[in-house]
Amino acid sequence: MILITGGAGFIGSHTAVALLNAGYEIGILDNLSNSKYESIRRIKQLTEKECPFFEIDLLDYLALDRIFCENKIDSVIHFAGFKAVGESVSKPLEYYHNNITGTLNLCRIMREHNVKKLVFSSSATVYGLAKVVPVTEDMPISATNPYGSTKLMIENILNDLFVSDNDWSIALLRYFNPIGAHKSGILGENPNGIPNNLMPRICNVVNGKMDKLTIWGTDYATHDGTGVRDYIHVLDLADGHIAALNKCNKDKGIFTYNLGTGIGYSVFDLINTFARVNNVNIPYDVCPRRPGDVASLYADCSKAEKEMSWKAKLGLEDMCADSYKFVKKNPKGYEDSK
Ligand code: NAD
Ligand code: UD1
Repeated sequence: MILITGGAGFIGSHTAVALLNAGYEIGILDNLSNSKYESIRRIKQLTEKECPFFEIDLLDYLALDRIFCENKIDSVIHFAGFKAVGESVSKPLEYYHNNITGTLNLCRIMREHNVKKLVFSSSATVYGLAKVVPVTEDMPISATNPYGSTKLMIENILNDLFVSDNDWSIALLRYFNPIGAHKSGILGENPNGIPNNLMPRICNVVNGKMDKLTIWGTDYATHDGTGVRDYIHVLDLADGHIAALNKCNKDKGIFTYNLGTGIGYSVFDLINTFARVNNVNIPYDVCPRRPGDVASLYADCSKAEKEMSWKAKLGLEDMCADSYKFVKKNPKGYEDSK
């Protein structure tokens, strides 16, 4: 069984569907701190397959150990963690505790049970205020906020773990900006509270939850003055995890991969594409830059293509159409079904 921590969340739920559809046996672990049981129900609805759900907190060492005692776990894809940059600044201790202690518990129990294949959700945030784009995996890494520090620290912990025991196979996946949703409109991003990221905020505007979008800065040295990012469809990202799992099944080592499209789009590119593809209006105001933002960050993904034969296939139009389809079908997000 492949254990998916954080499998009820945005990226984890799409990866669970991809794995089930590809015939893998999976188990999902989540404490539902940032997700709802409804996403588990929808994973089963979409795939017409069953998989166990463990409502467990990674901080609960004994409960986690029990899962490993009672199931034949072969590898782990580790999504579980807190992910809001702003919140991490106001709640650093909670972020360090949840993300770092949760990962330490997981790795200790994996080692105890001789499970040594791990795919970890890192982030492009580890490139900090990158000066050169596109970024490659060997460029310097740093953190600009506690959330980013947790990713950086976990990458270091996993590197040290591999040094201590070369029997491990670990993939560190640095996601760029995941957006989009399942093609059915049944599964998507269902953030708790007010989102900070651009696509969920665009969705809130077209959904009537926000009057206007705020564009944070039009004076960057980019083609239209707004920030440029590497948006990647969550379905491509999900496939990236299957590729990473294959890599870990094949080779021992610690491997770091950028997962993006390699193409940088600006805030205006995203707004205009969303408006055109979905035939909607997105009113906006222009405001000063958001502190901590870089002008431009996009990936060089050639390493993932070369070593894992993975490449993103879906474009910005798919991302915009699929994000909107989910929002239209689920204007209130997931209602809890438990
Ligand atoms: P998400 O919040 O939707 O999913 C994370 C899941 O982990 C949630 O369902 C939450 O309930 C669960 N969780 C959190 N702490 C837990 C704990 N202690 N025990 C058990 N479950 C716990 O987030 P996502 O967007 O799906 O992101 C998944 C991973 O990818 C995260 O580690 C995130 O930092 C990373 N990442 C996300 C993005 C992004 O933009 N979405 C970008 C880069 C990296
Ligand atoms: C943010 C996080 C980063 C994290 C990433 C994915 C910050 C400083 N950085 O990055 O650590 O890895 O999300 O989760 O929070 N924008 C607007 N108006 C909005 C929202 C965003 O103009 O309402 C702009 C931003 O200034 C940026 C672009 O849109 O230029 C993308 O923003 P966002 O979706 O938050 O992603 P990142 O900035 O890449």
